[in-house]
Amino acid sequence: MSQLQLAQIYARSENHVIGADGRIPWRLPDDFKHFKRTTMGCPIIMGRKTYEDHESALPGRLNLVITSNAGYQAAGGIEVVTSLDAAIGRAAQDNDLAFIIGGVGLFTQTFDRVQTVYETVVHTEIEGDAVLPAFDFTGWRSKVLQEHPADGRHNFAFTVRRWDRS
Ligand SMILES: NC(=O)c1ccc[n+]([C@@H]2O[C@H](COP(=O)([O-])OP(=O)(O)OC[C@H]3O[C@@H](n4cnc5c(N)ncnc54)[C@H](OP(=O)(O)O)[C@@H]3O)[C@@H](O)[C@H]2O)c1
Repeated sequence: MSQLQLAQIYARSENHVIGADGRIPWRLPDDFKHFKRTTMGCPIIMGRKTYEDHESALPGRLNLVITSNAGYQAAGGIEVVTSLDAAIGRAAQDNDLAFIIGGVGLFTQTFDRVQTVYETVVHTEIEGDAVLPAFDFTGWRSKVLQEHPADGRHNFAFTVRRWDRS
């Protein structure tokens, strides 16, 4: 089994909202391209509610959905696991890098274990019921990967940043 490195990838508003009513509250196709390019080929680990936002497997990646319900039925191409450790163990059989892709509980449970965070800050304050805590990046290195303006396809400007634990 390889030594698994974990990374997180998410988009949050300036007031730390990542979701509203089970959905992502913006449409940012170029951020989705960044998500796809960054995670392609790597296992992706998500909570059951994040999975239910799209209810299909994201192609080209091992899709792992965590739920406490051992009998949970998911779409083809999805592997269901009942604990974070089971997800990490399964991901390690597949690759040496895996991504935590949401939601709040998964990001919070894994923040102390990840080496890298890809954080998109969406430049708006928005209402929502999925809210990230303000993670403490003190001592981490960071690099801006993209500054994207609002335009006809993107209702908000956003900044993509990569954080690496020193
Ligand atoms: N903006 C972004 O980047 C982004 C990314 C992802 C998601 N989202 C949004 O966030 C919202 C969903 O996130 P959420 O925080 O509400 O839910 P979530 O984390 O996706 O799912 C929570 C569920 O995951 C399962 N779970 C989590 N940790 C577990 C563990 N250690 N062991 C067993 N089961 C575990 C439980 O499922 P059971 O109840 O079945 O046991 C729990 O109820 C949606 O609005 C979605 O669109 C946004």
